[in-house]
Amino acid sequence: MINLEGKTAIITGAARGQGAATAVLFAKAGARVFLTDVLVELGEEVAVEIGEAASFRKLDVTSQQNWAELVREVEQIAGKIDILVNNAALADSTPFLDLAAERIDQMTAVNLKGTILGMQAVLPGMIKYGGGSIINISSVNGLRGTGGSAAYDATKWAVRGMSKSVALEFADRGIRVNTVHPGAIDTPMLNPGGGDMSGLAKSFKIPMGRVGESSEVASATLFLASDAASYISGAELAVDGAWTAGIVLGKIADHR
Ligand SMILES: NC(=O)c1ccc[n+]([C@@H]2O[C@H](COP(=O)([O-])OP(=O)(O)OC[C@H]3O[C@@H](n4cnc5c(N)ncnc54)[C@H](O)[C@@H]3O)[C@@H](O)[C@H]2O)c1
Repeated sequence: MINLEGKTAIITGAARGQGAATAVLFAKAGARVFLTDVLVELGEEVAVEIGEAASFRKLDVTSQQNWAELVREVEQIAGKIDILVNNAALADSTPFLDLAAERIDQMTAVNLKGTILGMQAVLPGMIKYGGGSIINISSVNGLRGTGGSAAYDATKWAVRGMSKSVALEFADRGIRVNTVHPGAIDTPMLNPGGGDMSGLAKSFKIPMGRVGESSEVASATLFLASDAASYISGAELAVDGAWTAGIVLGKIADHR
């Protein structure tokens, strides 16, 4: 059984979507969970719903000072931080020639710099206490290109590559760093109106024929966070209904 008994986790972007689902699952698995986000009211609500094992702290992932204060407080309360899930991100689908310099800076600041600052904040403690697991949430857009999503894709490829570098640098300190690559997942990021997603799954030609649920990404993250993944580092795990596995030939589909 996968469990996180006795472990403390920080999750960014945990007020909604996949971050919230991950917090719920981690708490069920026995972890003490610190949910963080810039959406304070929503984040506090999720933490209250989870109960005693969870609490919420406001954290803007782009602020080094926010990170320093959070990590100091969590280490004071819990002793050590075992797990960090860098999940917070912004999406963008601006056509490439319309991408303003300020937007590129904002995307890079949240999706890439935020992930770097988070790792830099927790790593000294993980080194001191002899280990830890970091899961950086990338995307299928970090595994292949997506026309019309250049700024987002750049940050998600960067997160994937950087995670391997950091995994290598700290592999001999008992620290594992892995990436999760969600496909089309039914969250406020992809589905702000909360409508039916079956048409989208069809137009995206997702081999499993449906979009994914936040809980399905959370399970993959739980596995990588846990000791069940004790020999896995520098790896990438797609949670995408086989979307990035390749192509389906028309002939095979016709024979069904
Ligand atoms: N939903 C999808 O289809 C999909 C697909 C691939 C990858 N992803 C990735 O999964 C992760 C979770 O996405 P989601 O779909 O749950 O999105 P979401 O928009 O529902 O959640 C993202 C959260 O990040 C928070 N956030 C944004 N900027 C922040 C900042 N500066 N500091 C702290 N928090 C901040 C938001 O407030 C929000 O709560 C993201 O990394 C996203 O890129 C999502």
